[in-house]
Amino acid sequence: MPVSWHSRSLRRELLGWLLLPLAAVVAFNVWTTYRNARQTADLVTDRMLLASARMIAENVRESDGIFQAPIPPAALEMFASEDRDRVIYRVNGPRGELLAGYPETLPPPRQPSGFQHVYFTGTHRGEAVYAVALSQPVVSTRGGEALVVVGQTLRGHDRLVKSLWLKTLRDEVLLVAVAGLLALFGLHRGLAPLLRLRDEVRRRDPHALEPLDTTPVQTELRPLVLALNEALAQVERQVAAQRRFIANAAHQLRTPLTLLKAQIGVGKRGSDVAAAHEALTGIGTTVEGMTRLSNQLLSLARAEQGSTLLHREKVDFNAICREAVENLAIMAMERDIDLGFDGAPAALPVSGHATLLRELATNLIENALRYTPKGGTVTVRLRAAGGARVALRVEDNGPGIPAEEREKVFERFYRRLTSGVEGTGLGLAVVKEIVASHEGTVTLQDRVPSPGLAVLVLLPAFDG
Ligand SMILES: Nc1ncnc2c1ncn2[C@@H]1O[C@H](COP(=O)(O)OP(=O)(O)OP(=O)(O)O)[C@@H](O)[C@H]1O
Ligand SMILES: [Mg+2]
Repeated sequence: MPVSWHSRSLRRELLGWLLLPLAAVVAFNVWTTYRNARQTADLVTDRMLLASARMIAENVRESDGIFQAPIPPAALEMFASEDRDRVIYRVNGPRGELLAGYPETLPPPRQPSGFQHVYFTGTHRGEAVYAVALSQPVVSTRGGEALVVVGQTLRGHDRLVKSLWLKTLRDEVLLVAVAGLLALFGLHRGLAPLLRLRDEVRRRDPHALEPLDTTPVQTELRPLVLALNEALAQVERQVAAQRRFIANAAHQLRTPLTLLKAQIGVGKRGSDVAAAHEALTGIGTTVEGMTRLSNQLLSLARAEQGSTLLHREKVDFNAICREAVENLAIMAMERDIDLGFDGAPAALPVSGHATLLRELATNLIENALRYTPKGGTVTVRLRAAGGARVALRVEDNGPGIPAEEREKVFERFYRRLTSGVEGTGLGLAVVKEIVASHEGTVTLQDRVPSPGLAVLVLLPAFDG
């Protein structure tokens, strides 16, 4: 039977669970790094723009009633970089007249006053520009404020962000890669005992049932191996029981066959009719015994399947037992036994298989009839019992079964040899199997008053 072992890989799953959260953390980190890089670059740009604007503003003065704004070279040189960012500026006098720079470039969103400044973004010839507007009171006879606007395109700014951010990104990707490799290595080492165990199980001889070695596996896996071993031990016990059963059954079949052969031989050699008749009677008894044996073997096979294969339905256990008693009335009469039926006042529904349950009752009543001496009493009682169960009690006043043998009589082919009654030793084994397949219990007790045996069967009552 091919089994797909590869549909889910433990190693892949563990690796996934390790790396996915790590990747999420790294992604978050990359994002915050990007934000920090932007903030740093913004700050640097802000400072530069403001410093430049201040330098220009400090040079605004009035001479002979005319405002002048000579631009100090240092104020523009500080922007010089390899990015060739464009620097735009203008200076307006107190009445709005243009003192230097380009007219109408970069209008600020609001007019600053006093020594205030405003940062803002705008565009210049289709390119994004970051700018500052600064108001500077001018020392003059008329008073008033000059407005200085300095802006810069963002190439240098963006390159700074990128360089700050890319370095972190590279480090983080490297970190994930290294972590992945280490995790893979760790997983390989950690899972090695499990894989060894798998190989050991695969390599085994399919019939080998000895337990697996628990020493090389980790503590977490030990319960799994122990459970496996327990299952193996169970299978071993079952296999052994099955073998014993087959050996016993074969032996039980061979014995009467040998006897049959001998009886036929005697019959053939016999000269008169009386001898032939005697031989035939013997053969009849042997065949009867064999028929009973094969019937019991069949019952056992059916009962073993009971729990899994057979269809169960709602049946009245009270009625089934009454039928069993009725069917055995003739046998009771022949054996001169007083067979009584003390049924329940109402139906006792159980979920079960009628034929098997009839067999259960028949086996118990038959045992009582066969092992109780002539003139005895057998009573079959049915009641609803506590715990949503129904109870069948078969009592006789025969020899009973001593307490130390009460477990053994349920074994297949086990017979007590004291009785002198013919049988196969399978009756109670069949009973046990049927009771188990109906989730019930069976116990042997002393009859009160003694002597005698009381067999108590409890089955779960039908519920909905
Ligand atoms: N009511 C009983 N009183 C005394 N002994 C009993 C009674 N029922 C069973 N036993 C003992 O238990 C043994 C096992 O019973 P079981 O019904 O399993 O086998 P069997 O009666 O010998 O054979 P089978 O019923 O298969 O023909 C019997 O051999 C018998 O000694
Ligand atoms: Mg029996």
